[in-house]
Amino acid sequence: MSLKEKKYIPFYRPDISDAEIEEVIATLKSGWLAKGPKTIEFEEKFAQFVGAKHAIGMNSCTAALHISLLAAGIGAGDEVITTPMTFAATVNTIIHTGAKPVLVDIESESGCIDVNKIEEKITKKTKAIVPVHYGGQACDLDRIYEIADKYGLFVSEDATHALYTRYKGRLIGNKPKGTVSFSFYATKNLCTGEGGMLVTDNDEIAEKARVLSLHGMSKNAWNRYAKGGTWKYDIEYVGFKYNMFDLQAALGIVQLKRIEEMQKKRERIAQIYEEGLKDMEEIELPKACTFTTQHSWHLYIIKLKIENLKINRDEFIDLLKERGIGTSVHFIPLYYMSAYKDYNFNPKDFPNTEDWWKRIVSLPLYPTMCEDEVVYVVENVRDIIKKHRK
Ligand SMILES: Cc1ncc(COP(=O)(O)O)c(C=O)c1O
Repeated sequence: MSLKEKKYIPFYRPDISDAEIEEVIATLKSGWLAKGPKTIEFEEKFAQFVGAKHAIGMNSCTAALHISLLAAGIGAGDEVITTPMTFAATVNTIIHTGAKPVLVDIESESGCIDVNKIEEKITKKTKAIVPVHYGGQACDLDRIYEIADKYGLFVSEDATHALYTRYKGRLIGNKPKGTVSFSFYATKNLCTGEGGMLVTDNDEIAEKARVLSLHGMSKNAWNRYAKGGTWKYDIEYVGFKYNMFDLQAALGIVQLKRIEEMQKKRERIAQIYEEGLKDMEEIELPKACTFTTQHSWHLYIIKLKIENLKINRDEFIDLLKERGIGTSVHFIPLYYMSAYKDYNFNPKDFPNTEDWWKRIVSLPLYPTMCEDEVVYVVENVRDIIKKHRK
């Protein structure tokens, strides 16, 4: 495709093959639609894939993040540390427990939490850290767990972007010391439309998370309508309706089988971007930070050197849009959101986040993107930069 043959390349298209469709149809015909055998199968396969003892299917990563904190006993009067360079769900779920979110700036190489700035935000009220594996980079987990051990804090990793990311050779979610929450939202590396998974090696947290995610009903109550199930149950906690159900799990089981194939396509696209853009001085390309031994390439985030351009980031996005290319920005820092104004966050306290936010653009990257489309994006990015460099 040449520059002149304008086409629409959306920011995201799902990758659903006939195999997923067949599995969903088989599940529809199975007579069991709610949480049931497919959910259990997906949980077992997912736990095995990442190398965790327990995996609990949820209807979103948001649910998994919320339940993680509740299962760890976080609540009113507590403080929980995370970063402003994340989606609202990370902080909303902290607030929903009754705790106060405390934001720490990102470090400038990876966009993940700056581990050197965590300790200065720890108070007597601090109970947990929610590090976000941003874009597919890994946070410095050894340092984070070292700090958590020193101050007796719980760690709930937000791994929305990090399915397939490796930290020092280990998959995110492998032998987790706290909890790790994954998202299977439509745009994610593994997609069930909406969905999420909480993984942990902690038996107590796993048990509580299972119960809390299904109304707080006693163990195995999901099975009450099956042969051999019982109608008797107790409500052990005031819980939530956060569980995964079998149609989601049907998609998840097949997507998990295809994860390597889809990942290879993501890697190939990242490679084409790298090769096609590396000589452009006005663009900083994403690089896996030192301990990220495998980037999940959930997002391909470029940073514009706007000081060398006659256009700003928003104008760059508009120009790509005019040429039929969908992009996104991950993220608008949380301290700009009106819902959090009562926390009095000050942008000046987050210089690295501020610097990133003005310059970042996420280019389209997904397994159903064909090479022609990637090349089209590269050519247009190059052309816009050339036309607007100072
Ligand atoms: C960093 C981060 N955390 C949490 C979420 C919430 O995920 P979900 O939509 O599965 O609830 C998102 C959504 O994209 C996200 O980007």
